Amino acid sequence: MGKAKARNQNSPINPRKSSQSTSDTLLRELELLLEHYSSDAARLPLSPALQTLEAQSLRDARELGPVTEEKEAIGKLADELRMINDILEKHEYNKSSLIQILLDVQAQLRWLPKPALRWISERLDIPLGQIYNIVTFYKAFSLVPLGRNIVQVCLGTSCHVRGGSRRLDSIEQILDIKAGETTADQEFTLQTVNCLGCCALAPVMVVNDKVYGNVRMDGIKNILDSVRGKSK
Ligand code: FES
Repeated sequence: MGKAKARNQNSPINPRKSSQSTSDTLLRELELLLEHYSSDAARLPLSPALQTLEAQSLRDARELGPVTEEKEAIGKLADELRMINDILEKHEYNKSSLIQILLDVQAQLRWLPKPALRWISERLDIPLGQIYNIVTFYKAFSLVPLGRNIVQVCLGTSCHVRGGSRRLDSIEQILDIKAGETTADQEFTLQTVNCLGCCALAPVMVVNDKVYGNVRMDGIKNILDSVRGKSK
């Protein structure tokens, strides 16, 4: 017994393995919690880590829309964490792929919620503060939920002299939001950019990945209507 203990103390610690087993335990606990919500059993006391996850998942779910059941929010969080595991697996838990991992997660969730960042931090054994430094530095990342459609209006020099600002005013009016905001129904997020590299087409706007050149004032509403309700 004493020998075995000594061997354990001397064995090298694999931080990735250790953080993964913590995460695996939490994921399993979430699944149990989900089963618990599905049953009519009396509420069981939760571990502090699970209480934190539960509270965060409810907060995040409320930000995305009305939540009628805790079960729904917890189920959603468990699905998200499994999805992140798949992305981490795809990148072979490579710390140097952190930015691509974050982009992939954001592409799935449309933002980077706190539990997702904490999960990535634990699984890759990268301090959470370091991950926050990256996501707050790059404009591509969002810590608030983005709309299903991302509208970008170019305000670079060429677009500006050809009426880019007036196009922006018009879009702000139609969507009833300012640049940098998301509509209440989560349908659109409006952003401005400085140059999209296609100045010959000025004024330019992009909706999701589609570039619209020589945008006319009277064509803006049609462009927005053409994507409304199409993205999930
Ligand atoms: S300034 Fe708008 S695309 Fe270059």
